[in-house]
Amino acid sequence: MKKFDVLVIGAGPAGYVAAVRAAQLGKSVACVEKWKGPNGEPALGGTCLNVGCIPSKALLESSENYEKVLHAFGDHGIRCTGVEFDVARMLARKDAVVAKNTKGIEFLFRKNKVAWLKGHARFAGTAAGGYRIEIAGDDGTEAVVAAHVIIATGSKARHLPGVPVDNVRICDNEGALALPSVPKKLGVIGAGVIGLELGSVWRRLGADVTILEALPTFLAACDEAVAKEAWKSFTKEQGLKITLGVRLGEIRQGKAGVRIEYTEADGSAHVLECDRLIVSIGRIPNTDGLGLESVGIAVDGRGFIEVDDHCRTAAPGVFAVGDVVRGPMLAHKGEEEGVMAAEIIAGQAGHVNYATIPWVIYTSPEIAWVGKTEQQLKAEGAAYKTGTFPFSANGRALSQGEPGGFVKVLADASTDRILGVHVIHAHASEQVAEAVLAMEFMAAAEDVARTCHAHPSLSEVMKEAMLGVDKRSIHL
Ligand code: FAD
Ligand code: NAI
Repeated sequence: MKKFDVLVIGAGPAGYVAAVRAAQLGKSVACVEKWKGPNGEPALGGTCLNVGCIPSKALLESSENYEKVLHAFGDHGIRCTGVEFDVARMLARKDAVVAKNTKGIEFLFRKNKVAWLKGHARFAGTAAGGYRIEIAGDDGTEAVVAAHVIIATGSKARHLPGVPVDNVRICDNEGALALPSVPKKLGVIGAGVIGLELGSVWRRLGADVTILEALPTFLAACDEAVAKEAWKSFTKEQGLKITLGVRLGEIRQGKAGVRIEYTEADGSAHVLECDRLIVSIGRIPNTDGLGLESVGIAVDGRGFIEVDDHCRTAAPGVFAVGDVVRGPMLAHKGEEEGVMAAEIIAGQAGHVNYATIPWVIYTSPEIAWVGKTEQQLKAEGAAYKTGTFPFSANGRALSQGEPGGFVKVLADASTDRILGVHVIHAHASEQVAEAVLAMEFMAAAEDVARTCHAHPSLSEVMKEAMLGVDKRSIHL
């Protein structure tokens, strides 16, 4: 039986990063992955690379380019006539981007001598030298022994009870990233991250998109000022139809489309008929058939593997990281946890600072934040100061034709320590990195405000918002 110091189950961002880090630290490492790509070939990278972060960003880029040609280029004096798009070509580009990324993980495994074991892994109790793991692959079942195990099995889309997803008419993220043509009418259940990102993709390409959201509040996790600005932009300026506070009734699939009955917050009954429906109501952890009970590992009431602050499970030497454990379901959160687990196994002091994990929603404008929202600080009774600066007062944003949005900084009223930073702008995903670094180094708003920022650059808006905390922005 093959023996490894570390066996990682799952090769998504949490798992493959854990495997690479453990190998860097001198461990013998294997990573088990069961994913098969569109042609049935085994693939690394998990949800993120295959049907999540990467393909969605590829389609967001293509559809945004199309929209820019139609609506933004004219202002630059660039006349474009007869503009057309080709969905098949867009999807092929997306698939090529995915393949390049997943092949990149294969390269990293070869470089770091991580063994890739193909198939479904399950715990089968303990064995001399560690845990016995059985891997059911195409050619039968193989058993291996590992001293340490890192579970990184990720998550899958949550579906509505009684509403089967066929990924043709009714889609989760997998189907929504591969629609062969632009639906005339697209329904989306859930105005969360996937609903807004993929709803935007298909709206930009011409679909009439209606999003039905159960909560009465739009983007409840965002700072209210950002959510308000986003609502205005998505609904009034871009034409996404979003209804909040809905209760779904019967959902029926016919030959021509999908019929959704729902009631609005005021009790009025409605019907939405659409060609295709995306169900994006959150994700659930993957623990099916993992044999957790054979090693005494428990899951909580929502199915997440129970872990401590360092991702240790109840079984000695077994860690769980990424979407399969508590915390935000974000690729970079899983990566940090994977590194932490590998470093602890190697005798180092692995650590994740959960207070500085950034969030990004890749809509247009993008929304990004780190730390606390103003409503959270209010609820905590914290004494804080705010500084806000608009991109409309920034030369680079104006020259790029992207003047919408702002940076909002929240800082402790007495110490000036940065407590939260919220950005809504076309390039918010890149801007938030500076705020994350500042918070990681426990910076005061004044530290960033006194740091020289290149001119002209969008980063000057961050500096000005930090100055604004002390009511001393220069350009406002
Ligand atoms: P996963 O990526 O889900 O990988 C788990 C892997 O484990 C899978 O490959 C699975 O096949 C394998 N596996 C499961 N069980 C077994 C088993 N028993 N044996 C062998 N293999 C097994 N996050 C961001 O941070 N930014 C984004 O822009 C972003 N966009 C997203 C867009 C979409 C449409 C979706 C759906 C998600 C997006 N996410 C994004 C979330 C992100 O994809 C996840 O947080 C991330 O993939 C979680 O990583 P993971 O390694 O924990 O799990
Ligand atoms: P989500 O949690 O972001 O949003 C789901 C939405 O569906 C919520 O607003 C919820 O209130 C609503 N909802 C739930 N049940 C409903 C019902 N019965 N009727 C109507 N609305 C209902 O989940 P989503 O969008 O599915 O994405 C899953 C996860 O994937 C996200 O939480 C995020 O962690 C990750 N992701 C991250 C991205 C990023 O970082 N840019 C992009 C896409 C996904």
